[in-house]
Amino acid sequence: MARARLTLDPAFTIGAVQRRLFGGFVEHLGRHIYDGIHEPGHPSAGPDGFRRDVIELVRELGVSTIRYPGGNFVSGYNWEDGVGPAEERPRRLDLAWHSTETNQVGLHEFQTWLDHVGSELMLAVNLGTRGPAEAIELLEYTNIPGGTTRAARRAANGREEPFAVKIWCLGNEMDGPWQLGRRSAEDYGTLASVTANAMRQVDNTLELVVCGSSARSMPTFGEWERVVLEHTYDDVDYISCHAYYEPVDGDYASFLASGVDMDAFIEAVVATADHVRALKRARKKMMISFDEWNVWYASRWNAVEDTFPIDHWPVAPRILEDVYSVADAVAFGGLLISLLNHADRVTSASLAQLVNVIGPIMTEPGGPAWRQTTFFPFAVTSQAARGDALRVVLDADTVPTAKYGDVPVVDAAATLGEDLTIFLQNRHLTEPTTLTVDVRRFAGSAVTAEGIWDDDIHAVNDLRNTTRVGLRTNESAVLDGGILTIELPPVSWTAVTIN
Ligand code: AHR
Repeated sequence: MARARLTLDPAFTIGAVQRRLFGGFVEHLGRHIYDGIHEPGHPSAGPDGFRRDVIELVRELGVSTIRYPGGNFVSGYNWEDGVGPAEERPRRLDLAWHSTETNQVGLHEFQTWLDHVGSELMLAVNLGTRGPAEAIELLEYTNIPGGTTRAARRAANGREEPFAVKIWCLGNEMDGPWQLGRRSAEDYGTLASVTANAMRQVDNTLELVVCGSSARSMPTFGEWERVVLEHTYDDVDYISCHAYYEPVDGDYASFLASGVDMDAFIEAVVATADHVRALKRARKKMMISFDEWNVWYASRWNAVEDTFPIDHWPVAPRILEDVYSVADAVAFGGLLISLLNHADRVTSASLAQLVNVIGPIMTEPGGPAWRQTTFFPFAVTSQAARGDALRVVLDADTVPTAKYGDVPVVDAAATLGEDLTIFLQNRHLTEPTTLTVDVRRFAGSAVTAEGIWDDDIHAVNDLRNTTRVGLRTNESAVLDGGILTIELPPVSWTAVTIN
């Protein structure tokens, strides 16, 4: 049996947990939109074609801001193709995903869906094949109340009131060799600065996100951030981080410790941003928008992506439809812990993605919608993580990993709002861990613990059994004399709430 001890103090806080930390991401990709959230003719679809069963699940997930329309897709997208009468909209090649985009869902339809799910729009502009001119035209269309041709066009297209989009991404992964219109850091930094300034001339209340490296593994990581921020520090509010994790060659010990990598990633970007801040003698601190994060079996996609024929451009193909296991959900829970532990600098984040495409929600055309294993840690954290993130001090046994060396057997984060909630991940592959926490300095006497674990860490929810895996209650949690003791099963993620 492994052991861990946690020290918390309500006086030692990291920062307020922003609701935007629990954002999502919807890209025009595969069956995310078409045959995912939008399926006219499905028994649960409303007159607008959006599936009500999916809407209910997204509401239950508790997603704050939703990034749209991409992703790689945005770097070849003309937003004008997606507005106006649906029957007049063009069919276009989507080069990012080798598909046909029918444009039956565009800005207006997507905002209607967001109104259903109760989330805020985070809009990305195309800085791949387009530039500042199209960005400010889009902004005029979305945010100017009236008196211009574009604002009138928006009204004629069904939305009198502006969309009033607050938070915008200046392109996507502009360093990626796969990105349409990719650029050097110098070129992108200049373009992003020019675009940001133009956009602020239209609306000076915007929050802008500049692209960081598309991954920490990029050879230019660090230098890209420095150069881009030297160009844009005064113009933007956030720099983006993107990270995906998967088990490599069955190395689950390292996979479960993916939060170690995410911690190092965030801290490196913060250090680089603070370096530029010092050079510029700036008062402002740059925030991080971790606007793509998840478990993604990306190596499977990379193996097929170069094999697409020129005569086959399917509509809504089944791509990137990873089916998540219990182990995936536990690694995923570790990523949420990492985000919470950096709540002072990561003030916006987007789970990539939401439905069918590496999503916590799956659907079958004409059939059910269901929760994947990763649904549970996200929904519980989004619901429970309120108030301030607390500094957690861990004294724990360690487990060996091939990638990160010895790591603490437990990872933890804590938040204090009306309740104290402690988020815990046991990384041990075979042993439970006994954890104790001195909670005498906190009010409250009732304790509940729920989470995800299973005798079969490869168990999944799928079409054959959509409810095989669900949230479980940990009955071992005891609060006695101000000391919380809990036995965490191997490969588990748990949220303990004291109120
Ligand atoms: O989320 C899938 C893809 O991953 C996104 O389109 C892209 O930004 C990233 O490379």
